[in-house]
Amino acid sequence: MARAIFVTVEGIEGSGKSSVISFLSRFLRKKGFKVKVFREPGSTKIGEKIRDILLDRRNKTLSPHTELLLYMAARTQLIEEKLSKALSKYDFVICDRFFDSTLVYQGYAMKMGEIVDKSVKLFNLGVVPDLTIVLDTEVTNSLERIKIKDRIESRPVVFHRRLRDGYRKLARKYPQRIKLIDAEKNLNALFRDIESLITKYIWKTRIKR
Ligand code: TMP
Repeated sequence: MARAIFVTVEGIEGSGKSSVISFLSRFLRKKGFKVKVFREPGSTKIGEKIRDILLDRRNKTLSPHTELLLYMAARTQLIEEKLSKALSKYDFVICDRFFDSTLVYQGYAMKMGEIVDKSVKLFNLGVVPDLTIVLDTEVTNSLERIKIKDRIESRPVVFHRRLRDGYRKLARKYPQRIKLIDAEKNLNALFRDIESLITKYIWKTRIKR
């Protein structure tokens, strides 16, 4: 059975992932592809409960390792409950964040390094995105767009600068899979870039449905 193209969208807080994902899914559906969208952490009942714990600002004592394990738990739940099935049923599966978020947030910005690399390898359960779009934006502009900040968004600006740096490093490390897109442009110009990236990808991989 044909497997879906698995696309993940990544970026720092307020980088515009939601608008890009709704544009991308509309664009692909108009072309006649079957598209399924998930978000991480979340998209399952258990994953959404884990998300609430992770983002709740009142959870000030949540330890870094617990945080890492909760992200892993939400991810394995999504893969085992929904994502694996979706990959065999749809043409495109789009996920708002996936393991690159863990590599950048917990691995690079929180400096947990090796333990993160190992756990990501173990708990992605063999699922690796075909294409990862990283929306690259200026930190202060992005943070200004967020009105009510959650536990992670409220971290100091230096943390968010490390995130941007981490994504750029990751994009340099995996240039085939990860595409860095300048998301400082106006929305229409950004959508044109996304359209051209995905069109090239479809052409290159000769996906026909
Ligand atoms: P968002 O998807 O609405 O941006 O919220 C998810 C938050 O969780 C965001 O701050 C990024 C963070 N996150 C991690 O720190 N590690 C991860 O592995 C994932 C998936 C998200």
